[in-house]
This record gives sequence, C-alpha cells and structure tokens, in this order.
Amino acid sequence: MTEFKIAVIPGDGIGVEVMEEALKVLSVLEEHEQNFVLHKENFEWSSDYYLERGRMMPEDGLVTLQSYDAILFGAIGDARVPDEITIWELIMPIRKQFQQYVNFRPVKSLPGITSPLSNGDDIDFVIFRENAEGEYSNSGGRMFETQHSEMAIQNTIMTTAGIERIVKAACEYAEKNGKKKVTSATKSNAIIHSMKLWDEHVKRIVKNEYQDLALESIYIDALVAYFVQRPQSFEVVVASNLFGDILSDLGSGIVGGLGLSPSANINPEKQFPSMFEPVHGSAPDIAGKGIANPIAQIWSAALMLDHLGRADLSAKIINAIELVLLEGKIKTADIGGNATTEQMGSAISAKIIEQYAIKENEESKIWT
Ligand code: NAI
Ligand code: MG
Repeated sequence: MTEFKIAVIPGDGIGVEVMEEALKVLSVLEEHEQNFVLHKENFEWSSDYYLERGRMMPEDGLVTLQSYDAILFGAIGDARVPDEITIWELIMPIRKQFQQYVNFRPVKSLPGITSPLSNGDDIDFVIFRENAEGEYSNSGGRMFETQHSEMAIQNTIMTTAGIERIVKAACEYAEKNGKKKVTSATKSNAIIHSMKLWDEHVKRIVKNEYQDLALESIYIDALVAYFVQRPQSFEVVVASNLFGDILSDLGSGIVGGLGLSPSANINPEKQFPSMFEPVHGSAPDIAGKGIANPIAQIWSAALMLDHLGRADLSAKIINAIELVLLEGKIKTADIGGNATTEQMGSAISAKIIEQYAIKENEESKIWT
C-alpha cells in the first residue's frame, strides 16, 4: 500500500480553478490504481484569508505543513494584496524554511503545440534554478524615505554551500538521465563578487566530480538570445534564483506558454516536504472565466508523484496530457482552442482511464 499525505494549497485566481482539475486527475488514479491512497487536506491560505485575518497563513502554518509528504500548490496573487505580501509571507517561507533549494523546471516540446521555435518534438531540456538564496533575499533596507536622498540596498546572498548543492543536483540529474552537457547562466563580467563565486564553484565541482559532463558557462544576456535561436542545444541549465526565474518563463514561452509549464520546489534530502506548482501565477486577467489551461498544474502533480517514488503514475499523467494534445480536439484558449479548464481536466482524466482499460483488456486476454 502506498499512502501519502498531501497538503493542497489552491491559492488565488486561476490557482483555484486549475487545482480542481489536478485533484480530479489524482482521484482518477486513486480509483484505478490498487493500493494507492492520497490523504489530501485543503488549506485555504490565500489573499482572501489574508484580508480576513491579516496574515497569509496561521502562525504555525509551517509546522502544520511539515507533517505532510508533499505540498501541491496552485498560484497566489490578488490585486487587493501587495504581491510582496502574498509571495514573501506564503511561497518564500515554504521554499526557504523547507530547504527546497532545487527549483526544477522542465522545458519540453509537446505534440500538437505549435511554437515558432520548435520543429515538433525537438526541444527538451530542464532548468535547475537555485531556490533558497541568491538575488531573492530579504537582506537590505531603505533609508531616508520620502526624501530625495532616499536609498535602497538589496543584497544578493551567495554561499559556497548554496551554490554547491544546486550545481550538484543539476549534475546528478544530468548523469542519471544520460545528458552530456550542463550550461551555467552567469554574469560574472558585471556582477563581479557573487557571480564570480558562482563561476568558481561551478567550474570546480564539474571538473572534480563530474568529469563526463561538458560544462558551458554563458552570460545571461547572450543565453536568453540562444534560448530563442537554438533552444534544441540545451540539456541541463543551472542558474541562480533570479536568472533561473526569468529563464524558466522564457523556456515556457518557447514551447507554447505558461499554461503548460510545471515546476517542482525540491528538498532533495527529503528532510522536509517538497512543493509542486505551475510556473504561472494567478492570471487575474482570465481568473473566474473557467478558461485557464490546467496542464501546468496537472503536470506539477505528476512531478509530485515522481518525487514520491511513483514514476509509473507520473508517466501515466504525462502520457495522458500528450495524448490529448496530440488528438488536438480539446484545447484551451492559450494554445489556440476554446475548451474550458474543466473540459481539459476531464479529457486528461479520460485518457488515464483509457490507459487502465487497455491494461485490463490485455490482462484479460492473457487469462482467456
Ligand atoms: P501570470 O503567470 O499569472 O500570467 C501571465 C500571463 O499568462 C497572463 O496573460 C495569463 O492570462 C497567462 N496565463 C498564465 N497561466 C495561464 C494558464 N494556466 N492558462 C492560460 N493562460 C495563462 O503572471 P502575472 O500576470 O505576471 O502575475 C499575476 C499574479 O500572479 C501576480 O500577483 C503575481 O505576483 C502572481 N504570481 C504568482 C506566482 C506564484 O504563485 N508562484 C508566480 C508568478 C506570478
Ligand atoms: Mg516566475
């Protein structure tokens, strides 16, 4: 029996809408898979929660989450609450406190999705974004507010330990998955302290510990151009928090848009729960209309199952997504159709049920 405790945080806007479809898909797996149970608990930590209570989560929110095997997160962001509150009082504490220092973001061409940069199925790489330190730190401050002499300091925090663990995670993944090359995003020509440290450690680690991997180090400004000009040439990209954030939205854009891109915030040591969420935000421009693409959220749930040791079930979900896209009958507006969020979730669920039916049919043939 595999049983997992899952904390579900739908959040705001389309987060709530796409989460419903991801939960539907997970329930289908639970119904058809023997000895597989997910104990899901819903947490309504959102902007509404903040407006009612003055905080994004209860004081002991992190303690509560710690007892779960994984967190499935939707998206957060609402015009009534400043973004720095929603992000820094909910997502950031989870990522940082639970040492989810690997932000894993696959960039993959999908069948039936046209992209000006892809010739079908030829783009397939992953981004390892550093997720616990770097440019996204709350170290700094402001002085002389409202005066013309007002100043702001925003510190980047790069540590040897922090760089080492993300680079190693990227290299381990590369080795395990038969990849030949790791690309490091840098800007050490201009950011001469933190990025120099980044470069030095990347070079040392790959040279000393991963001799079979080729390393290329590319300045971020050139790298964004290469993402557009030759996205097929990348295998594993490792980047600091800010660079990785920007690169992953770009990566998502080149293979068909934010509605398709999943992400995993991983604590590789499994000391703390990891968190799985789409790359996209709460999309206030389309929230409430029922037209958001749930694929990014559903695929994030697949990444979660993979992390929990059920790669077989993860593959079933991804297979179902690809089958629906290949058929091309059900498409949400962002990928050129007019299907609803619910129709897309149901189509993917149906493809999963079909996979079980095929399996049962094959098994019954063996017995008859
Ligand atoms: P966004 O990702 O919410 O939306 C960008 C564009 O992509 C919009 O035009 C939106 O309609 C479209 N889009 C996004 N997801 C889609 C989907 N599943 N299906 C179809 N279209 C989709 O980013 P934006 O507009 O910069 O931010 C909106 C809010 O989300 C802000 O409050 C921001 O802080 C928050 N945000 C939250 C994140 C999180 O929860 N991890 C990540 C990024 C932004
Ligand atoms: Mg982002």
